[in-house]
Amino acid sequence: MPANAALRDYLKTRRSVGIGFLKDPGPTPDELDEILAIGTRVPDHGKMVPWRLVVFEGEARIRAGEKLAAIQKARNPALDDASLEIERRQFLPAPVTIGVILSPKPNTKSPEIEQLLSAGNVCFNLSHAAFALGFAASWTNRWYGFDTEAQQTLGARGGERFIGFVHIGTAVVVPEDRERPALTSVVSRWQG
Ligand SMILES: Cc1cc2nc3c(=O)[nH]c(=O)nc-3n(C[C@H](O)[C@H](O)[C@H](O)COP(=O)(O)O)c2cc1C
Repeated sequence: MPANAALRDYLKTRRSVGIGFLKDPGPTPDELDEILAIGTRVPDHGKMVPWRLVVFEGEARIRAGEKLAAIQKARNPALDDASLEIERRQFLPAPVTIGVILSPKPNTKSPEIEQLLSAGNVCFNLSHAAFALGFAASWTNRWYGFDTEAQQTLGARGGERFIGFVHIGTAVVVPEDRERPALTSVVSRWQG
């Protein structure tokens, strides 16, 4: 592959954009298909395909938020309206959210940690794809990424779990960069 200045510049400067700053327009159906195709083009030891994707778009985002609010209300009937509204809006800020599910396959060649890493790559690759098509993205997990009932409500089956939700839309801000670790603090040369 020849040197690619645009790709290099992107990799050196890219930043997630918080979900509150991801607005319409979102990707068209064709663009979303392209994002999904790029997103799932990831290293996958043993070709296990240990992940599945669930798209939250259009009205389904409202229903997903209502389900999350209902789960919280059932657990805490005294929950106030403002808190419930936060749950109802979990999938509303961005035009589209792609949930990435780790769907581990029993296989001695590729232990579950490798399958998890492959699924994590899907999350980040979806983000790269969104930026490549002119959108912005943010990867979150939030409480429903750890809650069994919420996970199943959102589409995880037995033995599966969501490992990330990649929200995609048009950025309405250009976020400042955040501090990055100095290479000297995270890189060492093996000396034997
Ligand atoms: C596994 C994972 C889970 C995350 N969950 C959340 C979350 O629940 N809420 C949130 O605001 N950001 C979440 N983030 C995003 C980070 O807090 C932050 O936005 C991101 O690290 C910014 O990185 P960047 O500036 O390099 O793009 C998550 C990131 C990762 C990798």
